[in-house]
Amino acid sequence: MINNIVILGIQWGDEGKGKIVDLLSKKSDFVVRYQGGNNAGHTLLVKKKKIILHLIPSCVLHKNVTAILGNNVVVSLKALLKEINHLKERNIFVQKRLILSNSLSLIFKYHISIDQAREDENRKSSIGTTNKGIGPAYEDKIARRAIRISDLYNKSYFKKILKKNVEYYNFQLLNFYHKKVVSYKKIFSETIFQFNQIKHMIGDVSSLLNSEMKNKSKIIFEGAQGSLLDIDHGTYPYVSSSNSSIGGVCTGTGIGIKNIDYVLGVSKFYSTRVGNGPFPTELSDKNNDHFSFIGKEFGATTGRKRRTGWLDLVILKRMININSLSGLCLTKLDVLDGLKEIKVCIQYFNKITHQKFDNYPLNKQDWKNIIPIYKIFKGWKEKTRGIKNFDQLPKNAKRYINFIQKFTHVSIDLISTGPERDETIFINHNLKNFI
Ligand code: GDP
Ligand code: IMO
Ligand code: MG
Repeated sequence: MINNIVILGIQWGDEGKGKIVDLLSKKSDFVVRYQGGNNAGHTLLVKKKKIILHLIPSCVLHKNVTAILGNNVVVSLKALLKEINHLKERNIFVQKRLILSNSLSLIFKYHISIDQAREDENRKSSIGTTNKGIGPAYEDKIARRAIRISDLYNKSYFKKILKKNVEYYNFQLLNFYHKKVVSYKKIFSETIFQFNQIKHMIGDVSSLLNSEMKNKSKIIFEGAQGSLLDIDHGTYPYVSSSNSSIGGVCTGTGIGIKNIDYVLGVSKFYSTRVGNGPFPTELSDKNNDHFSFIGKEFGATTGRKRRTGWLDLVILKRMININSLSGLCLTKLDVLDGLKEIKVCIQYFNKITHQKFDNYPLNKQDWKNIIPIYKIFKGWKEKTRGIKNFDQLPKNAKRYINFIQKFTHVSIDLISTGPERDETIFINHNLKNFI
C-alpha cells in the first residue's frame, strides 16, 4: 500500500512536477516542499485556468489538503505573502492550511543583491541564476549565520543578528561589488510587519509528519528544481544550492528514509535547461524551434527561453539510480507529435580519447569533450494530446516509450499527454488511489 509519494524532477527542472503533484494530491492529507525557494515555478492548468506557484506547494486547488514548507526551504517572506495574496485574488485561501517549519531559513534583500551582484560580476562564467537570493541564503545556513523564521519571535535577538548580517553583506556589496548597500532599519521593520501576518503558520513539521506517517496519512513530498541541479549530484557548479534529489526529502523535513513508500521521478520526453552549464544533447536547429514553440519552453519564474535538446538516457539512468526511483513519469509526449524522427542519447563519445562510454562525466572538463551517440526512432503524425489510454497511442510512440523502459530498467508508471490535469495515462494503477 502506498501512503506517501516523493515527486521529484530528474532533469534540469521544469519537468512538469507541478502538474503531477496537483494530479496526485487530490486525496492527500499533506503536500510538503522540502528544498529550494521561489526560484521554482510550478505550473498547474485545470480547465484552462493557469496557476504558477513558486513557494507554496502545488496542492492549493484541493481545499482539504494542508501545504507544508519544510526546514530546508529558503523563504522570502515578501515573496510568500505576494503568493498568498495572489492566490487570494483568485479565491484560493491558504492561510489556514499552510504550515511553515520553525527552522526554515529566511531570504532577505541582501541575499538578492549579492546574487545579482555576483551574476553581473561573472557575466562570462555566470550560473544564470534566477536572482532570487537562493545561493547566498543557503551559504548563510551552512556558515551558521542564517536567520531562521523562529528567530523572529524575539525581536531584540532578531535585531542583533540582522544587524550583524547586514554589516557583513553591505561590506561586500560596497567594497567588492561597488553596488548599493541595503538598509538594516528598512529590512527590520518590513520583516516584523510580514512576520506578524504569517507567524500563526509556524509549526514543528518533523513531529507532525512523523506522527501523521504512523497514522498512515497520505503525504506527497514535492521536489523543486531537478536532480541535475542538485548541489552534490548535479552538473556542478552549474546547479542550484540545495539537494533536489532524494536525500533532500529526509534532511529537508525531518523524516527517516524507511518511511518513504514510493519515489516518482519526472522527466520530459525530451530535455530542457534554463541557465548555463553542460547540456550534451542541446539543439540549435529547427527541432529547437519546435520544442520551444510547441512545448512553450519559456521559464515559469524568469520568463527566459529554455534551452532544448533530445532526451539523454545516460543522464537519466544515473539519476534513476541516485534517486532509487520506484517509477518514472514521462511528460510532454504530445510535444513530439509531428516530428519526422526522434533521437535519444544512449552513449557518449569522447572527442579527445575517441572512446565511447556509458556513464556521466566525472569532472567539469569532460563535459566539454563529449558528443552524444543517438538511437533514432521514427516519429508519428497522429495527435497524442489528451490520450488517456496507452493502447491508443501511435505505434511509433509506443516503440519509443518501450525502448526507454527497457533501456533504463525502471517502470514507466505515468505518461503526461498534455498540460491539463486529466491529460494523463496511468500505467501503474496503484497511483490511482491518490486521485
Ligand atoms: P515544473 O517546474 O516541473 O513544475 O514544470 P513547469 O511548470 O516549470 O514547466 C512545465 C510546463 O509544461 C508547464 O507549462 C506545464 O503546464 C506544461 N506541461 C506539463 N505536462 C505537459 C504535457 O504533458 N504536455 C504539454 N504540452 N505541456 C505540459
Ligand atoms: P523548478 O522547480 C529550472 C536553475 C537556474 C540556474 C540554476 C541556479 O521550476 O523546476 P538559483 O536561482 O537556484 O541559484 O539558480 O538553477 N533553476 C531552475 N531551472 N527550474 C527550476 O525550478 C529552477 N530553479 C533554479 O536557472 O541555472
Ligand atoms: Mg518550473
